[in-house]
Amino acid sequence: MKRYIPVSRVEGTASRQAHCDLPEGTYEREMSKEGFFGPAAFFHHRHPPTGWVGFAGPLQPRAFDLAKLPAGPVSPWAAPEVLTNAHCRIRYWRTSGDMPRLARNADGDELLFVHSGQGDLFCDFGHLAIEAGDYVVLPRGTLWRTTASGSMDVLMIEATNSSYQLPDKGLVGNHAIFDPAMLDAPAIDAEFLAQQSDDAEWQVEVKRRNAVSLITYPFNPLDVVGWHGELSAVRINVRNLRPLMSHRYHLPPSAHTTFVANRFVVCTFAPRPFESDPGALKVPFFHNNDDYDEVLFYHAGDFFSRDNIHPGMVTFHPGGFTHGPHPKALARMFRQPKPATDEFAVMVDTRDALDVGAGAASVEWTGYVDSWKGRS
Ligand SMILES: [Fe+2]
Repeated sequence: MKRYIPVSRVEGTASRQAHCDLPEGTYEREMSKEGFFGPAAFFHHRHPPTGWVGFAGPLQPRAFDLAKLPAGPVSPWAAPEVLTNAHCRIRYWRTSGDMPRLARNADGDELLFVHSGQGDLFCDFGHLAIEAGDYVVLPRGTLWRTTASGSMDVLMIEATNSSYQLPDKGLVGNHAIFDPAMLDAPAIDAEFLAQQSDDAEWQVEVKRRNAVSLITYPFNPLDVVGWHGELSAVRINVRNLRPLMSHRYHLPPSAHTTFVANRFVVCTFAPRPFESDPGALKVPFFHNNDDYDEVLFYHAGDFFSRDNIHPGMVTFHPGGFTHGPHPKALARMFRQPKPATDEFAVMVDTRDALDVGAGAASVEWTGYVDSWKGRS
């Protein structure tokens, strides 16, 4: 048996309600355990905790413009790596046209997030038309290929050695944010049956231990005529999410959790009204989030807490320093000119430190660490 050391106190000039009614002229910073679920302290600072004028050493806030990665390759397993650790592997794949070979990930479940474009997915479970904003979960071992009408950019997030599951939605119940009935599954339809062939040679690229092996068949092995069971590829589009919000409290990012895997979570920021209570914070609160590394991929909209960020970029905030709104956003801490956010972003929070992949490193925006400079 173990438990956190019990402390509960209010010291000095402080609010008693997190993210609300901050003492005049102060900036709130949260330090917490277990992401936003464990014991936490809320500090009221006289200056924004991101007001650094120098930042040297290996720990840095980093940003990468994945839209600048070259188009291709044809295989998803050759897609440039963005960020990786033992439990999570993030790649960015800029595909177009038809995949000439089939893919199978034997290392873990794969989550595809279609950032742009549209096409079709053919897999063991059948056919699914896919488009920008779709999350597609492919269970480990699924045989699949895509055909894209034009180019298609896909953020790939592998749950290495684990499975994607849904979060426990606690007080609001299983049908909030999105109803499990909103999950689409592939169909054994006419298009799926039409792509089957008995005489064309097909190859399967199997990824196991992050190395690719090639299996050749004298027929198309996507030859399922039917199936039953409790396991399937599933799809939900971000426009079908109904995010939680409170008019009186800025909810933590964990309220926007979409999928959970071993030692990381995937959250989605979708448009929602700003808080209306005069004392409630209307921008993300400064926080360290020391137990997690944070990755944010910007999909669409106007990113309300960040300057100089456009769709296709990804930011990486390792644990160890405070992050939060940029100065221009901070000026709107308690009053927003617009009634609602219009951003879509995918967040990956990992319990273990991530390494920057060669793909991301090649498109790094090295000035990101200085982007908080300037007084609010
Ligand atoms: Fe964060």
